[in-house]
Amino acid sequence: MTILVIGSGGREHAIIQKLAESPKVNKIYALPGNGGMTDIAECVAIGAKDIPAICEFVKNNPVDFAVVAPDDPLVLGCVDALEEMGIPCFGPRKNAAEIEGSKVFSKNLMKKYGIPTAAYEVFEDYDKAMAYVETAPSPLVVKADGLALGKGVLICQTREEARDALKEIMEDKVFGASGSRVVIEEFLEGPEVSVLSFTDGKVVVPMVSSMDHKRAGDNDTGLNTGGMGTIAPNPYYTAEIAAECMEKIFLPTMNAMNTEGRTFKGCLYFGLMLTKKGPMVIEYNCRFGDPETQVVLPLLESDLFTIMEAVAEERLAEVEVKFAEQNACCVIMASDGYPKKYESGFPITIPEKLKHNAKVYIAGAKRDENNTLLTAGGRVLGVTACGNTLADAIALAYDAAADVQFANAYKRNDIGQRALAAYDEK
Ligand code: AMP
Ligand code: GLY
Repeated sequence: MTILVIGSGGREHAIIQKLAESPKVNKIYALPGNGGMTDIAECVAIGAKDIPAICEFVKNNPVDFAVVAPDDPLVLGCVDALEEMGIPCFGPRKNAAEIEGSKVFSKNLMKKYGIPTAAYEVFEDYDKAMAYVETAPSPLVVKADGLALGKGVLICQTREEARDALKEIMEDKVFGASGSRVVIEEFLEGPEVSVLSFTDGKVVVPMVSSMDHKRAGDNDTGLNTGGMGTIAPNPYYTAEIAAECMEKIFLPTMNAMNTEGRTFKGCLYFGLMLTKKGPMVIEYNCRFGDPETQVVLPLLESDLFTIMEAVAEERLAEVEVKFAEQNACCVIMASDGYPKKYESGFPITIPEKLKHNAKVYIAGAKRDENNTLLTAGGRVLGVTACGNTLADAIALAYDAAADVQFANAYKRNDIGQRALAAYDEK
C-alpha cells in the first residue's frame, strides 16, 4: 500500500513511524513532511492546506490511502476532496471537522445533547459581549469561534482582562475572521486529561489517556505553547472516570454527530477537565493531538494502518486496538525564545541509536544542501521514552534527550511531575 500523510510536525512523524511498521505499508508520501522524516517517507513540497495541489499530486501518483492529520486541511474539506477522487481517508469530512472548526458549533452541540461542558454564551456583537462581561462572575474564559493556531483561548481573571480579550479578538481581530464570534464561558478547575479516540461513527475506541504541558515554563508558568511535553497514561484518569466519560461524553458525542448528519470518522480528541462536578469537555479536536500522539502511538501494540483502514471502512469494532501496559514521556526540545521570537538554522545532532530505545520525533527541522539537519521551527523535536513506571519513563526520556543537541535548545525540566504528584495524592 502507498500511503499519503498530510502534515509536517512531530505528530505526523510519530504517525509515519508507526505506519512504517505495518507490513501492509510499503511507501509513504509526506505532504509536506519535514527534513527529519526523509528516511521513512518521501517528502513532497506541497502545503497541507493546498487542497488543489494535493488532489493534483494524487492524480499523478499512485496513492491507496490518505491520512489527513492537521486541523486546517480537515476543516477546509481535504477528506471530502480526496474521497471524491476515490481515495479512502483517515480523518473526518468537513461537516464533522466543524466540531473543532467552530467552538460555537461544538458548544451548541454539547448543550443540545446534554454533554457536560462549561456554561457559556455566544456573542457576535461586540457591545453585547462587553455588556455581558459587566454582569458575569470572574474569572471568565473568552474563546474565538474559529481555528486560531491553538491560541484563541484567553483566561481572564478580572473583568478588565475580559474587556481587553474581547477588544483583541472582536475589534482588533488578532485571530482574523476566527474572532467574528466569541464564546464566553465559565472558568472550570481540575486536572486536564487528553483522550484521543478512534471512531468510525459506530463505536468509539479510546486510546491510552495522556497529559499535555502547554505552558512554556516549568511549573506551568509563562506563555501558552503548542505543547512542551506529554506523559501517558494520565494517572488522574482512573478506570472509573473512563467508564463515566464513555457513558456521558464519548458515546453521546458520537451519537450526536450521527443525528446531526455529521458522522465523525477518524481520531476524535476529547480535551477533558476533571472537575468536582465530574468530567467536562473543554474542547474537541478533530485530529490527533500534538504532542499527545508522540506518547500515545509508541504505546500502541496493534497495527496502526489496520485500525485506520477499519475506521475508513466503518468496521472498527472488528479490529484489535491494544496498548502496552507501560508509561511514556515525551520531552519537547524547542528553540530558545519560543513561542515568541527565536533563532533557527542550527545543526541538530542525534545519536544513530538513542539510549533506552527512545524515539525522536522531528517537528521543526529541514535539511541543507549537504543533507545536514538544521533547526527550522519553534518546537524542533520531541524525545519519547517508555518505562514500566511513570518515574522511569520520565527519567529515561530526559536521559535520552541529553544526547540530542542543537544550539539554543530549550526544554522544560518538569514534564510529568504534576502527574507523579497524582500518584502521591492517591
Ligand atoms: P484550548 O485552546 O481550547 O485547548 O484551550 C487552552 C487551554 O485553556 C485548555 O487546555 C485549558 O487549560 C484552558 N481552558 C479552556 N477553557 C477553559 C475553561 N472553561 N475553564 C478553565 N480553563 C479553560
Ligand atoms: N496538544 C493539544 C492539541 O493538539 O491541540
